[in-house]
Amino acid sequence: MNTAEATPERLNINEMSLEQKKLLMQSTYTEKSYFQRLFNQDQLDLPCKPHALAFRQEIERILIGNNLISHAMPLENLHEVMSDDMRAYNFDDGVNKISTYFYDTDAQFKAVYYRFIGFVRENYVKEPFWFQATPTIRIHCPDARNSHHYPRYHSDISYGHPPQEINFWLPLTDILSGHGFRVMSLESSVNALKKFDYDFSAFIHSAIQDKDFSKHCESLAKPAPTEFGNVLAFDSRCIHSGEPLKKHTRISMDIRVLPLSQYKNMDVQYQGSGRRKIIFAPGHCYHEQNSDYFLNYTGK
Ligand SMILES: [Fe+2]
Repeated sequence: MNTAEATPERLNINEMSLEQKKLLMQSTYTEKSYFQRLFNQDQLDLPCKPHALAFRQEIERILIGNNLISHAMPLENLHEVMSDDMRAYNFDDGVNKISTYFYDTDAQFKAVYYRFIGFVRENYVKEPFWFQATPTIRIHCPDARNSHHYPRYHSDISYGHPPQEINFWLPLTDILSGHGFRVMSLESSVNALKKFDYDFSAFIHSAIQDKDFSKHCESLAKPAPTEFGNVLAFDSRCIHSGEPLKKHTRISMDIRVLPLSQYKNMDVQYQGSGRRKIIFAPGHCYHEQNSDYFLNYTGK
């Protein structure tokens, strides 16, 4: 990377006034996005079966390696052998203990991840991009303590992510009675946000605190139809949420990528609003090397 490259002046999102943020959201939600130009829609399933199978095997290997299961088993039944404490959600962040075992993965898992990045670059996003350094792996079990933490309707933008990102949501278990994941169309997302005059924090507050409004969001959001073997790609502006699982364990992985062409032109510095205040920049949230540099040199 050329460190001498000039970085444009960017206003940090967390330093913006409410009015500035509302204006930014209004233009974000009314303009045609990179995603729409690339795929001509706001969400779609893309085939990636060999990668889904490889990830599933990796999850199984890591579960066995950590003595969380003693032998290979259908991952959809994982909740049957997990203790209550493993399944229970931490009420503050909605994360359960079982998912924390996947925060740090090893070289073998990373190799599978980088192969997937190469596949996405070659087949779907046909230009260089920054990519999430560590994918987020989620394991959701039915009948887990604090399940009422969900749903929590949001878009990643509401948590500080750049709107130019592409979201990839990859189920690693069969759909069975539903993945427990819903996504709104872009049109519904815009309409929902418009009611709050593009004040995303007001939207989030209602979506979490107001049961009727949460139900309304649920009626607008459709269950993810993505069969195991496909990845759901969606416009990062689409509002979505996990919801309590009914009968089986769902494991999924989500990653975000940001085309270099989009990153270069951003005049805002996007940063997480949560506890970690993560910066959405290379070497922070994203891998320090872009897809092409990484795939051609480091990851060869
Ligand atoms: Fe999200």
